[in-house]
Amino acid sequence: LLIMGPPGAGKGTQAKILAEKYNLIHLSTGDILRREIKKKTAIGLEAQSYMNRGNLVPDNVLLSIMDSTLISLKDSGIILDGFPRTIIQAEKLSETLNEMSLVIDTVVDLVVDADEVINRLAGRSTCQDCGGMFHVQSCPPKVEGVCDNCGGNLAQRQDDNSETILKRLDVYQESTAPLKQFYKGQGNLKTVTARGSVEEIFSRVLEMVK
Ligand code: AP5
Repeated sequence: LLIMGPPGAGKGTQAKILAEKYNLIHLSTGDILRREIKKKTAIGLEAQSYMNRGNLVPDNVLLSIMDSTLISLKDSGIILDGFPRTIIQAEKLSETLNEMSLVIDTVVDLVVDADEVINRLAGRSTCQDCGGMFHVQSCPPKVEGVCDNCGGNLAQRQDDNSETILKRLDVYQESTAPLKQFYKGQGNLKTVTARGSVEEIFSRVLEMVK
């Protein structure tokens, strides 16, 4: 299963719930890259400058990570969140899956307007330890600045400032939105309106993937 949509559409939120409910592996390339940055690996150091400016990390970096990850998980049900993000990545993903005799069952496209995503991203805070996600209005932590799950510190992501959010939205339109046509052509694109509560959107997603 693949979840796509603009920054802040709720890809991570919906993918986490689906993964827990159906015992699937949630693979978020954003989370993978942030872990590499935290560990200060060569990939992390290269990725950081692109991510902080709201640009995509080069295809070859993503493909080198995702190829080996997918092969190691070939017997699991997987939700891909944030990958592929370019036509080149989508074509390479199809090739890799084909070699493993696997297919993408459904591509869920979360559709939401720019005003809503700006509000969601500007109010988001993330746990520095477990990656738990909160929002100042829709999902506030019980204690300000402290993760409900593990007690870790909450912080705003470096790319969640207004200038970088606008850049990420532009990059999405230019490089990732064309994937809708790509997957429409393969007959597995399902569009979900991503306005409303997390629970409302989840039931729409379920309708599409059941
Ligand atoms: P990534 O981490 O994937 O960021 P993104 O695509 O910009 O998406 P977000 O994680 O910001 O949002 P989301 O849609 O997951 O929403 P969320 O559920 O968190 O990528 C970051 C960067 O890494 C990229 O810019 C790029 O540089 C690089 N990268 C990653 N993958 C790459 C690739 N394949 N190729 C090249 N580069 C790559 O929700 C957001 C907030 O809204 C949260 O606070 C949440 O609580 C709240 N919320 C969620 N749903 C609702 C709702 N229904 N109502 C109200 N609030 C809600």
